[in-house]
Amino acid sequence: MKIMIVGTGYVGLVTGTCLADLGNFVTCVDSDLKKLTVLKGCKSPFYESGLEERLKRNSEAGRLSFTSSIRDDFKETDVFFNIVGTPSLESGELDLSYMYSVVREFFDVYKNTGCNDFKVFVMKSTVPVGTGQEIVAIRESYGISDDQVAIVSNPEFLRQGTAVDDFFHPDRIVIGSSCDKALDIVQKLYDPLSRRDTPIVRTSLQTAELSKYASNTYLATKISFINEMANLCELTGADVSDVSKIMGLDARIGRYFLNFGPGYGGSCLPKDTKSLVHLSEILGYDLKIASAVEAVNDHQKKRVMSYILDYFNHDLTGKIFAVLGLSFKPNTDDVRESSSLVIIESLLNQGANVKAFDPEVNFLSEFDGYDGFSIVGDSYEVAESADAIILVTEWNMFRELDLKRLKSVMNQPVFFDLRNVYSPKKLEDAGFDAYVVGRKCLKVAIDKG
Ligand code: UDX
Repeated sequence: MKIMIVGTGYVGLVTGTCLADLGNFVTCVDSDLKKLTVLKGCKSPFYESGLEERLKRNSEAGRLSFTSSIRDDFKETDVFFNIVGTPSLESGELDLSYMYSVVREFFDVYKNTGCNDFKVFVMKSTVPVGTGQEIVAIRESYGISDDQVAIVSNPEFLRQGTAVDDFFHPDRIVIGSSCDKALDIVQKLYDPLSRRDTPIVRTSLQTAELSKYASNTYLATKISFINEMANLCELTGADVSDVSKIMGLDARIGRYFLNFGPGYGGSCLPKDTKSLVHLSEILGYDLKIASAVEAVNDHQKKRVMSYILDYFNHDLTGKIFAVLGLSFKPNTDDVRESSSLVIIESLLNQGANVKAFDPEVNFLSEFDGYDGFSIVGDSYEVAESADAIILVTEWNMFRELDLKRLKSVMNQPVFFDLRNVYSPKKLEDAGFDAYVVGRKCLKVAIDKG
């Protein structure tokens, strides 16, 4: 099939490249000319495992191309995917301006080129429930019928870092529309995956849209729930790693997304939870659980600071902190909504110096104005002369650190492990004063939230 992907962010580029890998002819459109040059050179503008080799293979085979205008290849294209960014505003509301400008451009071109072929317009960007129907209303305002252009919602469930693998092995594929012909066409695109027993759920536009928010908010709920249990463990002396394991062994609960830590980050869970709360407010419904999930997460990101302040008698002036991990999770260079940013900002504002190391992040504009911040080249360099280590992102390379060597280069041997990478015993055996989230507190006041 001939496909057009509008927007080459991580979801757009992964979707386009993987659809080309399934044998389709894919044109990817982006307005960023610099990015297009990179893509035309068969390079990925961001790090995503398994992407670049597929990008190269499919470009060389002539199945994947890049352009700046949806007019190119418009006529021959059967299915258009709108995957442009829908960033979050402070209120939780989404900025849908890019998304709507693509919608209008699409209908303008359809109308102005006198096109009459059946086209399918798929919304893959995460958008509030009701957006699909708004697009149907816009289509009608152009005098274009359902027999000419059908609107479909096909939410993505790709995780950064494993997005390519997630594309080929999804838990489910959701396609929503009121047009059966369009549902058949989009389903056909995913047929090679359904042969591997992937369930395909056909539903309405609104249901497809809401299912994405419901899934991500539920995942965020699991994380905030286990984080609260971790906090309770710190007050009771229970060990949250066992609590989490015991809960996860119940098939009704399931073991995924019960890893406790410094709160969830990234471009999706925080944004989707906020957006669902915002939509509910507009509808006059008080979405209590999701609001609490958000509040717990905001607190969780800052929580370690109360321990740090207590440990250092509320004076961090001139102290040096070594931060391990900047990205919001391992295997990505994305720092959006990362807990490390919240912690670093807080440390710097208290007059501390911060050195950080991350295997994929070597530049952060966020702390440009701060003299006390630097990014260094490895885990031991970051620990040099430090008064404490804070492990924020559980990259595999942080799991096998030579703890004795780390300790030997530090000014004070204090270790805050926010991801339960090390057991308290292992850290203490290596000579550290250790805090391990939900498992072991330092001998200071406990944060009661
Ligand atoms: C998420 C959803 O998983 C995906 O389906 C959706 O399409 C996009 O949003 P992503 O943001 O890439 O994917 O990351 P994910 O692996 O879900 O992790 C999100 C955050 O939650 C990370 O900060 C991670 O550290 C945190 N997390 C995850 C936990 O703290 N504990 C867990 O048990 C799982």
